[in-house]
Amino acid sequence: MTDVRLTRRELLAMGATTTAGAVAALTPLPAHATAREDHSRALPVHESTVSLEVNGRPLVLQVDNRGSLLDVLREQLRLTGTKKGCDQGQCGACTILVDGRRINSCLTLAVMFEGASITTIEGIGTAAQAHPLQRAFVKHDGYQCGYCTPGQICSAIGALDEIERGVPSFASDDPAAMPERTEPEIRERMSGNLCRCGAYPNIVAAILESVET
Ligand code: FES
Ligand code: FES
Repeated sequence: MTDVRLTRRELLAMGATTTAGAVAALTPLPAHATAREDHSRALPVHESTVSLEVNGRPLVLQVDNRGSLLDVLREQLRLTGTKKGCDQGQCGACTILVDGRRINSCLTLAVMFEGASITTIEGIGTAAQAHPLQRAFVKHDGYQCGYCTPGQICSAIGALDEIERGVPSFASDDPAAMPERTEPEIRERMSGNLCRCGAYPNIVAAILESVET
């Protein structure tokens, strides 16, 4: 009898090859796949002219009709303070303010913002003249890597404004009553902004302090 001995590494390599081969055999490439790729490459680019204001600066932009507001801000205007996390509305890293209301800029097309007034983190404060929320984030260590921070700060400004305007949240006991700037309200209203570093207690402390100052 032949003594066949395999090392663990050889066994795993065999398994990977066999599995890949089996999957390839079971999943034939759709006949139209290559044609579809070529077709999409050949699609004409449709552009539009949009007049809007970004951080107080009036601009007239030529934008690709398919382009998200996030991509136009980051790639066309080089305003890279607004971050791209998931690019599908799940993390809040791309939050900006449009006419004072917070939105996820990855979920919306730039072409829709004719006449809008847009504020990104670059328009909120500077190192010399920081916004109270920015100062509070520094004081309370409301970040670690900082990737989510621009979105957190824009979102917090929008959330505090919603409380001010009496917009109820799921944390409001009585939706008809004026909401208050309490910790449960802040936590609920900021729940769309994820922080992979888990700086949540510090973020909430910073927002609550900025309310008091
Ligand atoms: S990048 Fe827009 S929600 Fe994540
Ligand atoms: S500070 Fe790193 S993701 Fe929030």
